[in-house]
Amino acid sequence: MSEELRLVTCTAPVNIAVIKYWGKRDEKLILPINDSISVTLSSEQMHAKTTVTASSTFLEDKIWLNKELQASSSRLSSCLEEVRAKARQLEAPAVNPDWKVRICSENNFPTAAGLASSAAGYACLVSALCQLYGIKGDTSILARRGSGSACRSVYGGFVHWKMGERADGEDSRAFQLHPACHWPEMRVLICVASDTRKKTSSSTGMKNSVQTSQLLKYRAEEIVPKRTLEMIEAIKEKDFSKFAQITIKDSNQFHAVCQDTYPPCVYLNPTSHQVSSLVHQINNFSGRFVATYTFDAGPNACIFLMEKDVPKVLGLLKYFFAEGDEFVRGEELPMEEATEAETSKYSVDRIAGGLKYVICTRPGEGPEVLAADQHLLNNQGEPKFMQ
Ligand code: DP6
Repeated sequence: MSEELRLVTCTAPVNIAVIKYWGKRDEKLILPINDSISVTLSSEQMHAKTTVTASSTFLEDKIWLNKELQASSSRLSSCLEEVRAKARQLEAPAVNPDWKVRICSENNFPTAAGLASSAAGYACLVSALCQLYGIKGDTSILARRGSGSACRSVYGGFVHWKMGERADGEDSRAFQLHPACHWPEMRVLICVASDTRKKTSSSTGMKNSVQTSQLLKYRAEEIVPKRTLEMIEAIKEKDFSKFAQITIKDSNQFHAVCQDTYPPCVYLNPTSHQVSSLVHQINNFSGRFVATYTFDAGPNACIFLMEKDVPKVLGLLKYFFAEGDEFVRGEELPMEEATEAETSKYSVDRIAGGLKYVICTRPGEGPEVLAADQHLLNNQGEPKFMQ
């Protein structure tokens, strides 16, 4: 008798931290040394998509990521084991947690772009597995075991990851501050830099920072607790000036910590610095905060701004950093070609091709369960791309 496989497919979004997570107090449990706050981006433009299934007939766990069979990693297996342990606590799990699983996952945005994909990936994996077993309630603690920042991608909108105090990590989880519709005018421009340099991974970088940076200790103890409260207030009040200023300061302090680390981890490139400078000059000439920037462990700027200011900022980014024509991707938003009178005011180095393209997007909701026609695995648990 052939058994009917239970298949679940989910998508999960990317999130961008405006108060950065950098540094762990427990490497294995992935417990941070400070709180962080992020904005979840719309899945429309960027998401991970994952199908999971389990069967008594599978002899081993198998996972395909972006069409490649993965060797087992300690992160992946510890995340999987945590979900299974949780499923075993259920009175009647929808699927037997002892069965081996098949997982097929892909991103709808180029991984080569160097955009953090592990947050969306692990949030998606955990969401799909929880749905498979019938695990209800918070899933951020489980997602955290895959990658710290992933715990924030299980919620939409504006999200707070509380570091928690317990040694077992059971209080280190994410909470939604507000759904995406709280700030409907907000837009996000992901500036994808042309850069192929091999970067220190976040995990290695933050480990070195914890061991060597005095500034990180000061940041975690003295700066972030106050800044987190201010950011929560700025988001609640939709006070863009306050939001923008804190976001810039926190990104720059994070990169100062990277510089203070031994050996230093350098994530920004010349284009990153010119994009930051452009944003500061736009704000100065306008006499108000038009835009704000933040950088993760890479050279790509993430710019937050209000919808009405998108055409001007896009035009200036194109003038200073584009090479070809296909510069704007994602949501179709109007662009205002920058005039000579405008551009001549700026003291910004023009780096043609410094940015490959800009993805226009906005805050969005958390993971979603998709219909059966979206499955990446067939009824035998084989990836459809192999057929
Ligand atoms: C700079 O979540 O990728 O993006 O927990 O080791 O997997 P691990 O690290 P990861 O670190 C993200 C660091 C950051 C800041 C942030 O997203 O808060």
